[in-house]
Amino acid sequence: MQEKWKEIDECVQHWLKEAGARIHTALEEKLTIETKAHRNDLVTNVDREIERFFIEKIRKTFPDHHVLGEEGFGDEIKTLQGVVWIIDPIDGTMNFIHQKRNFAISIGVFENGVGILGYVYDVVHDELYVARKGEGAFLNGKPLPRLEPVSVSEAVISLNATWVTENKRIDPKVLAPLVKAARGTRSYGSAALEMAYVAAGRLDAYITMRLSPWDFAGGLVLVQEAGGIVTNLYGEPLDLLGKNSVFVSKPGLHEEILQKYIHR
Ligand code: IPD
Ligand code: CA
Ligand code: CA
Ligand code: CA
Repeated sequence: MQEKWKEIDECVQHWLKEAGARIHTALEEKLTIETKAHRNDLVTNVDREIERFFIEKIRKTFPDHHVLGEEGFGDEIKTLQGVVWIIDPIDGTMNFIHQKRNFAISIGVFENGVGILGYVYDVVHDELYVARKGEGAFLNGKPLPRLEPVSVSEAVISLNATWVTENKRIDPKVLAPLVKAARGTRSYGSAALEMAYVAAGRLDAYITMRLSPWDFAGGLVLVQEAGGIVTNLYGEPLDLLGKNSVFVSKPGLHEEILQKYIHR
């Protein structure tokens, strides 16, 4: 890995720990909670504060980089040219508010659209997932073993119940047989953590119908570096500038699910 990326990696890990400490303090304080697009789309003062923290650091340290952040304090990104950071200050805000756990900071750093660095930091459990292109994925500094193929009958798949009930994005009959055939299903409410869990082998796959780039940017680099596959539900590459369905999986399982279960 080039010196320039090593320097960026050191900065990010340092900033993540600083942000994590701030979030720990905030968990003891009263939150200001607001809604965004609809009544279940929540944001807190902490989401905003943490996004501003990272953007200020990045702008000061790497003034020629661009930043896309969920809460809108970053740049308006129209192309992936150059170095682009994609940040979700708190992924799993509903969990942050209701459970005070099961949320993470997610960061992906891309160069001309190629994922170079990926981070998911589970602040409460102090679990830092880091991926560096070509070097692999790590959990708290320990290399994650390369993901091995598995079959649906032995797979634990993360999937929100919404997608097997009446909804706008997919016929509930498509994923129901997969839910039945899998060894088990889970839902954690944080896309970044669910992707990190696939990278770490705690889950075998994760399927969801609509995520924004900041939800999956960090996890994308992580899963790829662990030997997993990240596409949309139909096996196509993800668009880093738009909303996507997301299908993250161990190898083998990805092909089996696409072939036997997924049809438009
Ligand atoms: C949400 C989480 C959740 C996913 C939602 C996202 P947020 O992100 O990743 O798991 O199902 O679609 O919006 O808003 O908590 O950062
Ligand atoms: Ca949100
Ligand atoms: Ca998110
Ligand atoms: Ca968020």
